[in-house]
Amino acid sequence: MYRSHTCGELRISDVNKTVTLSGWVQRSRKMGGMTFVDLRDRYGITQLVFNEEINAPLCEEAKGLGREYVIQVVGTVNERYSKNANLPTGDIEVIVSKLTVLNKSLTPPFTIEDNTDGGDDIRMKYRYLDLRRSAVRKNLELRHKMTIEVRKYLDEQGFIEVETPILVGSTPEGARDFVVPSRMNPGQFYALPQSPQTLKQLLMVSGFDRYFQIAKCFRDEDLRADRQPEFTQIDCEMSFVEQDDVITLFEGMAKYLFKQIRNVDLETPFLRMSWADAMKYYGSDKPDLRFDMKFVELMDVLKGYGFSVFDQAAYIGGICAKGAATYTRKQLDQLTDFVKRPQIGAKGLVYARIEADGNVKSSVDKFYTQEVLQQMKEAFRAEPGDLILILSGDDAMKTRKQLCELRLEMGSQLGLRDKDKFALLWVVDFPMFEWSDEEQRLMAMHHPFTHPKEEDIPLLDTDPAAVRADAYDMVCNGVEVGGGSIRIHDSQLQAKMFEILGFTPERAQEQFGFLMNAFKYGAPPHGGLAYGLDRWVSIFAGLDSIRDCIAFPKNNSGRDVMLDAPGFLEPGQLDELQLKLDLKE
Ligand code: AMO
Repeated sequence: MYRSHTCGELRISDVNKTVTLSGWVQRSRKMGGMTFVDLRDRYGITQLVFNEEINAPLCEEAKGLGREYVIQVVGTVNERYSKNANLPTGDIEVIVSKLTVLNKSLTPPFTIEDNTDGGDDIRMKYRYLDLRRSAVRKNLELRHKMTIEVRKYLDEQGFIEVETPILVGSTPEGARDFVVPSRMNPGQFYALPQSPQTLKQLLMVSGFDRYFQIAKCFRDEDLRADRQPEFTQIDCEMSFVEQDDVITLFEGMAKYLFKQIRNVDLETPFLRMSWADAMKYYGSDKPDLRFDMKFVELMDVLKGYGFSVFDQAAYIGGICAKGAATYTRKQLDQLTDFVKRPQIGAKGLVYARIEADGNVKSSVDKFYTQEVLQQMKEAFRAEPGDLILILSGDDAMKTRKQLCELRLEMGSQLGLRDKDKFALLWVVDFPMFEWSDEEQRLMAMHHPFTHPKEEDIPLLDTDPAAVRADAYDMVCNGVEVGGGSIRIHDSQLQAKMFEILGFTPERAQEQFGFLMNAFKYGAPPHGGLAYGLDRWVSIFAGLDSIRDCIAFPKNNSGRDVMLDAPGFLEPGQLDELQLKLDLKE
């Protein structure tokens, strides 16, 4: 028997018991004739005591234990003289009578404790050691609990879990695909699924009614803190539903998960905001509503007074930061530098302080009378002590996005983005299409299977850019945690959609024939949603990046530094696939 108890289990009630423990040596320290060892496993840490007076040879052996050695000990549980209130096992220690070294360890490249001295790269290279740290391990435990609760909820709602293939065909209209060559079909490639979207729709045609899958998805896109090339969706689809049915069921799931995982009671129904309002008031389709700071448009108030930057602008808008009039010149200069960063791209920042007497003091005072500035103050309903920050530009959408960055930055600086506060909402009524400058054509904003709003269908012929979709995203704290839509189930409407997206009938047939043909055999009305599991877990765990809740994540260049992947193939493998490399660099 390797162990009678885990390292997180023993309490004061176990005193005098003889126990066997196995685990890793986290650290050891010598004090007088005693050697203390912190023994760790996934459940916790127990203090071991080797006492020279009781057993000198054993104590000598203990001195030879290095960090991360795997050992087994037999000993007696003893009440500690000085207790450690920070450890669940802090009331006791184990006086060791027998020590077995099960395996030695090299000195680890970083300390395996909550506060590690290891940088990002080294921790990723030795991720299996990093995962021994309780801070990281806890995230995986939470992820596990999350998937258990997801399965419970969906099972109770009548969903069944169906696995769909990982080797599928490449489809256009999404991110870039990861592709896999087929040896048995020379020159041909599978693609890894960006999501099981079309397959889950086919399952609806099959009559499965309520499907879900905790599905691995793959997208070859630029990475960010909330994006990995390989991530996991809680992917769901339902038949005979309208948008409200899907929204109600999945906000019920969010409420359930918040209760089970964080013991937070969320109020339902969640706020619903149209995409148009989200863009107008927050410059983002995923507004962080933990704080207000709604945009106020100032075209009517500030144009026409000789300040050429504003006079020539297509958009002037601002935010009001409550109580931030105390910002110093230096802080305001830093904010100006922030919005001028190339990633944001604003030309400059105008600011105005509301002084104690109600007067407005702005950086453009020479162009505006106090009367005009007071009108601006009214537009924000600003009060003494507030700071107004204004951006303008010749492209309204771009300027709103810049203002969105400034709003988020101010939210952070003023401590309004508390990780223990949660603001959930649905963003609805997305446009069906968006114009792509790169491709010079309309692209599907969600995906080409999304149903247009019934009342907007006539616009498909006359003004497709104005068509709105039955699509919805769930947003939590400024993160898109899920998205879905009601789907097209009519093969003709689907064909029309491909036509608007610039597909010839032949190409649409070639790429999506399987789906359009299936729709000819009695496809039920259907719709669904996919939650991003990694994003949910990182919100629940208060993480800055989804990497921290993924056991073996990729770095920002899409590499697994531990496996050193991707890598080159052996020439024999390329031959077998009948592939030749023609590398440009
Ligand atoms: P969508 O592309 O919006 O929809 O993806 C659904 C959710 O998956 C998460 N997500 C990601 N998480 C981590 N890394 C990524 N690279 C990444 N990309 C997306 C987000 C997102 O909300 N088939 C549709 C869903 C549907 O219509 O039912 C789809 O994939 O949380």
